[in-house]
Amino acid sequence: MVDHDDLRALQARSLKMQGWIRQQTFSPENEKTLRRFSSWEVSELILGMNQSTFRGRLAADPTFPTGKVEPDGRQRWFSLEEVNTLRRKLKSRGKPLMPERPKGRAFRSAIANFKGGAGKSTVALHFAHAAALQGYRVLVVDFDPQATLSHSMGLTDVSEEQTVWGIMARDLVHETDRMNATSVAAESGASLPQRSIPDSIRDLGLQTLRIHDFIRPTNWSTIDIIPSCANAAFVEFASAQYRHLNPEWSFFAAVSRYLDQLPDDEWDLIFFDCPPAIGYQSMNAVFAADMLCIPSGPGYWEYDSTTSFIGQLSEALEDLAHGFTGTFPTGNMDLPKVFRDVRFLLTRFEPGNDLHRAMYQAFGKVFEDKLMENTIEMTRAVEQSNRFLSSVYEIDYREMTRETWRRARTTFDRAWEEYHASLLVAWREMAETNETRKAR
Ligand SMILES: Nc1ncnc2c1ncn2[C@@H]1O[C@H](COP(=O)(O)OP(=O)(O)O)[C@@H](O)[C@H]1O
Ligand SMILES: [Mg+2]
Repeated sequence: MVDHDDLRALQARSLKMQGWIRQQTFSPENEKTLRRFSSWEVSELILGMNQSTFRGRLAADPTFPTGKVEPDGRQRWFSLEEVNTLRRKLKSRGKPLMPERPKGRAFRSAIANFKGGAGKSTVALHFAHAAALQGYRVLVVDFDPQATLSHSMGLTDVSEEQTVWGIMARDLVHETDRMNATSVAAESGASLPQRSIPDSIRDLGLQTLRIHDFIRPTNWSTIDIIPSCANAAFVEFASAQYRHLNPEWSFFAAVSRYLDQLPDDEWDLIFFDCPPAIGYQSMNAVFAADMLCIPSGPGYWEYDSTTSFIGQLSEALEDLAHGFTGTFPTGNMDLPKVFRDVRFLLTRFEPGNDLHRAMYQAFGKVFEDKLMENTIEMTRAVEQSNRFLSSVYEIDYREMTRETWRRARTTFDRAWEEYHASLLVAWREMAETNETRKAR
């Protein structure tokens, strides 16, 4: 027999072991650190220039960062900060090496689909790292209480108030107070009932937190995160109660409203890692997103679940449009919700597998130009780097054969390059629309 006390005892034992496991995974300091990048990687893979040209430029200018020589002798190894300094100082064929950055606020992508194992967190992690290596400043938001992305980014001691749940509960209090105030001011208190928020929610003290209190640094100096944690799993349950407290609360716009308050120029790209379900958290993610990336495995069941995901997403968005349009403010985002673009991305793809190739054809027939041409290939490098809660970009290529590492990196590079190209088109449009809006 096992009751809740027994389960708690088991959890206590498991927690004790957690510290030890972390130490094995990260470092003796219990903290994830970012490795240095070799001059081969920096020149050819990150800055996109010839290795000997790169060495020549470094030798010619004593003010450039020089990296460190490691015991292996021949190569210099550069920190991310040094790479970013070099990017600002160097040019390649007369052109600056900084990535294109349309004006205005950061561009938001949600990585979403149903099935656990579709590759959402893997794609989110690798896209964030690829973008940071390109010189972008990145913010990621972990909407999934399984917290895979938070763990991979080195965040392990997170309390639930610091997650998307904290942002939602804070928004509930704020929006309810605002609604109550407007209904009194309009002297129409009778038609708009005053809603009350229980002390149990007010007493959490979320109102005293500043917007930046939800954001934590990661082991990459140019990537920040709003993390999640296992305890945030009750968000779905709590959100249902909150809606009951104030049915007019546009719950799905809480995170969007929050992100609107961040300074436009602090980050360039924002990625949302979504939970494997349509619920309060994922609705907040898709509502705040400018663009969707829908990863899917290449099997029949995954095709099935991707199909039902877009069906249910469509229904949920239609419900919001009917239930809220014209009545309740949703921050700077309009209803009905419109995405600037949607891209489908096949993951864990084996080019030599007939079934996978057939599924790629089927996806292409249905989703046409919305299916990304590049797939993310199945690679042992992901499993291997996963063991250290790392991405392929983070793992030192000397940990595996260079060929395996190179192939894995290439598959993510190509997918990111393609996604980035369509993201830029959408981003430029968004920046233009916002500029004309402002001008009016
Ligand atoms: N390209 C890949 N090659 C090999 N394994 C992969 C690849 N992408 C994902 N995986 C593995 O599949 C599992 C699920 O991936 P994950 O990104 O966590 O999915 P989700 O976030 O959709 O639940 C993980 O164990 C991950 O290591
Ligand atoms: Mg995940």
